[in-house]
Amino acid sequence: MFLYFFSTRLQTLLLLTSFSLLLFLLLLLLRSSPTSFTVTSAASSPPSPSPTSLRHLLFGIASSSKSWPRRKELLRLWWRPGLARGIVFLDSPLNSSASGGVDHTLPPTSVSADTSRFPYSYKGGRRSAIRVARIVKELVEIAGDSEVRWIVLGDDDTVFVLENLVGTLAKYDWEGWWYIGGRSEIVEQNVKHSFGMAFGGAGIAISYPLARVLANVLDSCLVRYPHLYGSDARIFACLAELGVELTHEPGFHQVDLRGDISGLLSAHPLAPLVSLHHLDFVNSLYPDMNQTMALKHFFEAVNADPGRILQQTVCYDRLKSRTLSISWGYVVQLFEGNLVLTDLLSVPKTFTQWKRSRNTSSDVYMFNSKEYSRDQCKRPAIFFLKSVSAGKDKIESNYSRHFWRKCSLIPNSTRSPLLIRVSSQRLNDTVGKASRRHCCDVLPSSSGFIMKIDIRKCKDNELIAMQP
Ligand SMILES: *[C@@H]1O[C@H](CO)[C@@H](O)[C@H](O)[C@H]1NC(C)=O
Ligand SMILES: *[C@@H]1O[C@H](CO)[C@@H](O)[C@H](O)[C@H]1NC(C)=O
Ligand SMILES: *[C@@H]1O[C@H](CO)[C@@H](O)[C@H](O)[C@H]1NC(C)=O
Ligand SMILES: *[C@@H]1O[C@H](CO)[C@@H](O)[C@H](O)[C@H]1NC(C)=O
Ligand SMILES: *[C@@H]1O[C@H](CO)[C@@H](O)[C@H](O)[C@H]1NC(C)=O
Ligand SMILES: *[C@@H]1O[C@H](CO)[C@@H](O)[C@H](O)[C@H]1NC(C)=O
Repeated sequence: MFLYFFSTRLQTLLLLTSFSLLLFLLLLLLRSSPTSFTVTSAASSPPSPSPTSLRHLLFGIASSSKSWPRRKELLRLWWRPGLARGIVFLDSPLNSSASGGVDHTLPPTSVSADTSRFPYSYKGGRRSAIRVARIVKELVEIAGDSEVRWIVLGDDDTVFVLENLVGTLAKYDWEGWWYIGGRSEIVEQNVKHSFGMAFGGAGIAISYPLARVLANVLDSCLVRYPHLYGSDARIFACLAELGVELTHEPGFHQVDLRGDISGLLSAHPLAPLVSLHHLDFVNSLYPDMNQTMALKHFFEAVNADPGRILQQTVCYDRLKSRTLSISWGYVVQLFEGNLVLTDLLSVPKTFTQWKRSRNTSSDVYMFNSKEYSRDQCKRPAIFFLKSVSAGKDKIESNYSRHFWRKCSLIPNSTRSPLLIRVSSQRLNDTVGKASRRHCCDVLPSSSGFIMKIDIRKCKDNELIAMQP
């Protein structure tokens, strides 16, 4: 009896349990159906979250058979044979003597398609603008459905820092529509061509899905804009028709400047350096070297720590009441006295405008700028990169004193060192996170001729402030 009672109780219990379990499962199934739908759809799309790397970029370099033999040396500075992918587009085949056979350390060349059917009416402009604008279309046709995520357009005198370009683009979801680049440094140029235009020489990055659509419609757009000057203006106009706006990245540099651009490079924004342009039109980056040698020298620093190149660090030498501004891998400026930080972050006008006829003393630039003394004796002591050596993660760079020709002051060894030694750590993963300027310390040095600086992350509450 007891047993019977127990078993019936058990049966009922089991029955009840299984019934409620069934109900529960049914409910769960009903409730979860929309969720399971999204899950299946996500699973059926390709697994994409591999980080963007160099192999996902396809470069289109605008050149001509006339400029290529000279400019290819500039490309060699940054191109990674076997890793970077791209094509150099020419207007006509290279003379057999000039081509010198196929060079596998450079991207292949290709002659652009004929564009004579398109109208061009900009007075004094060059109709090659149409050919160059169509590079994006020709690239998309070549790319097919390979794993390209970004099309990157540049001139044959655009120099890219590839690690930083890849890092910058990796911040964006390449499956969306992105038009990324930089403006001109000159207000007037942006007024003329548009503040919303990515200037071609600085490099233009277009996400592949957008590039594919742009390629489809480009020819129909081109006929509407014969009055525009350049290829970049045509790309901009067509993207505007597609409803896409520029995303400005401060690491892209059109360099619409002439002369000594050390001022610009000494106060780079807190963003990785992506590109430099027009290097044939400016003074050699390091004095006492021709531009070819100077750029090789610059790239030694780039290759040692690409994330840190040109990143500006400021420190105050309490003992001697001096201020230091380091533009890593390039130049160190040493000022007497305590200078206000915000003044150090504005660009000294060492250069002139692109248009020679223009007034250089007025404020025509897109950044905060300040006068640069014509009296060389009134300038800060300047030290240019001498050598760099990269250990496993510790990096050392030396900067040697530059002497102005028109300032005969004899350097005072106790006041002005001849060599500045800077130690730092490789700058990792700066891209994508909000960046913060680093701090530096003046280290004790046994020699008055040598100054030692260490760059490091600032402490949480640390300020880059003048010493009282
Ligand atoms: C190629 O050679 C021809 C004939 O010598 C010359 O007229 C032309 O300017 C050359 N083109 C280039 C791009 O050097
Ligand atoms: C630049 O300087 C290097 C070394 O001094 C020299 O070999 C090279 O020919 C120079 N290049 C030019 C274009 O003057
Ligand atoms: C250049 O601009 C400055 C400041 O706007 C002005 O004082 C100066 O007269 C101008 N010079 C010329 C030659 O126009
Ligand atoms: C920097 O200069 C010091 C002193 O001359 C030297 O010992 C050191 O090896 C140099 N470092 C580099 C990276 O050249
Ligand atoms: C060199 O610097 C020291 C220390 O500040 C100073 O006493 C001396 O007058 C300076 N000499 C010259 C020639 O400027
Ligand atoms: C960069 O990474 C290396 C190796 O992980 C590390 O030693 C170094 O401290 C890092 N640099 C910075 C600035 O954090």
